[in-house]
Amino acid sequence: MIINTIRMKEGLLKGKKGIIFGALNEKSIAWNVALKAWEQGAELVLTNSPVAMRLGTISELAKITGSQVIPADATKMDEIENLIAESMKIFGGKFDFMLHSIGMSPNVRKDIPYEQTSYDNMLKTFDISALSFHRVLQTAYKLDALKEWGSVVALSYVAAQRTLTGYNDMGDAKALLESIARSFGYIYGRDRRVRINTVSQSPTPTTAGSGVHGMDSLLDFSERMSPLGNATAAECADYCVALFSDLTRKVTMQNLYHDGGFSSMGMSLRAIEQYQKSFEECDCADEVKKIQKQTKLPK
Ligand SMILES: NC(=O)c1ccc[n+]([C@@H]2O[C@H](COP(=O)([O-])OP(=O)(O)OC[C@H]3O[C@@H](n4cnc5c(N)ncnc54)[C@H](O)[C@@H]3O)[C@@H](O)[C@H]2O)c1
Repeated sequence: MIINTIRMKEGLLKGKKGIIFGALNEKSIAWNVALKAWEQGAELVLTNSPVAMRLGTISELAKITGSQVIPADATKMDEIENLIAESMKIFGGKFDFMLHSIGMSPNVRKDIPYEQTSYDNMLKTFDISALSFHRVLQTAYKLDALKEWGSVVALSYVAAQRTLTGYNDMGDAKALLESIARSFGYIYGRDRRVRINTVSQSPTPTTAGSGVHGMDSLLDFSERMSPLGNATAAECADYCVALFSDLTRKVTMQNLYHDGGFSSMGMSLRAIEQYQKSFEECDCADEVKKIQKQTKLPK
């Protein structure tokens, strides 16, 4: 892999320290955020589940950014506690930001349809993808780990508000994740002056993303629907860096769409043209016309 990155002398995050959860490989949104945060002057601790450490390439990212890696399964309270306590030792006290970039659904992975869900799987989905955020926030609160005007961001998806075929129980998990951001956002804002937000990102070709049934079509559809096109992982990283910076100190308890405009669209010209084309290309068009004539169906 060719790394082409330069650290700025006076970056937006100069002097700031933070934990990045969920960098599996260079496609990961968290990988991109870590790299941009480091370029902007931040000092980092990286973490992922022990399994991901073995399967992924987080040690390369650690080398580039000069960060320590602390394994933690986000479903295990003792591992989260150890991670945050150890990070405080590395940072020499409280730190400034955290990125929660964790998601996994056994139902999605095994292609089990929503209407036939396994509740054991569904509970795992919620535990890994949403309750882990509560666990991280609760632990950081208990250890008083975050500095005043600190910032926490978790990654979400528009399936929390709208039904998107194939996204399965991850839609429910994201709705819970966004709700946790609001509930804890109040407590953290009131008691610690810390912001908690979720960023609702475009579909992105990552390892987790490619597990979603019909991901290629979803990417194409949302690209056509979004006036600015899909947001990439690198662009998402820019947005997260802005949210960790002092330029966004009064933004909290929000679900912030970073999706090229997708979430506000109903239908776009590019999408409708493709939809129309699918009828024109259909070799049954003559047959349809014949039936329309016979039955006087509206055209
Ligand atoms: N890719 C997309 O289309 C897309 C769109 C919107 C939001 N998101 C969200 O972005 C976040 C990051 O996903 P990504 O697309 O970069 O994929 P990714 O596969 O690179 O990242 C998912 C991460 O979750 C980690 N993880 C899974 N189980 C864990 C556990 N028990 N403990 C700790 N970590 C665990 C994985 O190891 C991996 O690093 C997820 O929350 C995902 O839902 C992704």
